[in-house]
Amino acid sequence: MSWFTETLQSSLGKKLLMALTGLFLIIFLITHLAGNLQLLYGTKDDFNQYAKFMTTFPPIKAVSYLLYASILGHAVYGLMLTLKNRQARPVQYAYNQPTANSTWSSRNMGILGTMILIFLVIHMKSFWYEMHWGAIPEVNGFKDLHGVTVEAFKSPLYVLFYVLAMAALAFHLMHGFQSAFQSLGWNHPKYTPLIQALGTGISLLIPALFALIPVVMLLTNS
Ligand code: HEM
Repeated sequence: MSWFTETLQSSLGKKLLMALTGLFLIIFLITHLAGNLQLLYGTKDDFNQYAKFMTTFPPIKAVSYLLYASILGHAVYGLMLTLKNRQARPVQYAYNQPTANSTWSSRNMGILGTMILIFLVIHMKSFWYEMHWGAIPEVNGFKDLHGVTVEAFKSPLYVLFYVLAMAALAFHLMHGFQSAFQSLGWNHPKYTPLIQALGTGISLLIPALFALIPVVMLLTNS
């Protein structure tokens, strides 16, 4: 067995993979959010042009494959770690008071991650699948993905689903961000509190802005 497969099979290796893919996914979230905020302030043509660029420009396409692999790796290894932790301790110790020494987010990372994965499958079917393989009409020479998002966010139920999914994302990031730094061994008395504060800020701001997009679109387009 090579050192690579050996590392990936160890608990430490799995945690490292979770940390690296998780931090990469946070970087994706920030760029994805910046692009999608154009739905609130940009023109229809700006957004459609941007969507075409993001799906056809070769270097970005290459990064997309890394993104899909990271989502899969993060989900599969996260599930394996969650199941392993359950098997290791199927029944909680009688004297164990989980609320005293761990946060709610940290104890529910598996279920929060599963909720985000379900969101992703539905989200990618709505937009990503449509953009690549759907029969979207063209406006001014570009596929009208803007129109697809406007139509999708006319449904209050669909918007509610986004808001709830973003709440799950906030809790997931709340533990995930600082946990990634710990798994990478980046602990420092001076910098760890800063990382924790940055983590809290990112965990609240990113999902809140993502949730704002469908809410504002629902209120302005229906
Ligand atoms: C209001 C919130 C959001 C909107 C309006 C939105 C919109 C879109 C659109 C229009 C696309 C298709 C364009 C493309 O393929 O590049 C897309 C793709 C995608 N979205 Fe979102 N998104 C939102 C939130 C999220 C969140 C929170 C996540 C992750 C948790 C996410 C993950 C993805 C992924 C992985 C893709 C495929 C990207 C690729 O192929 O490179 N999105 N999104």
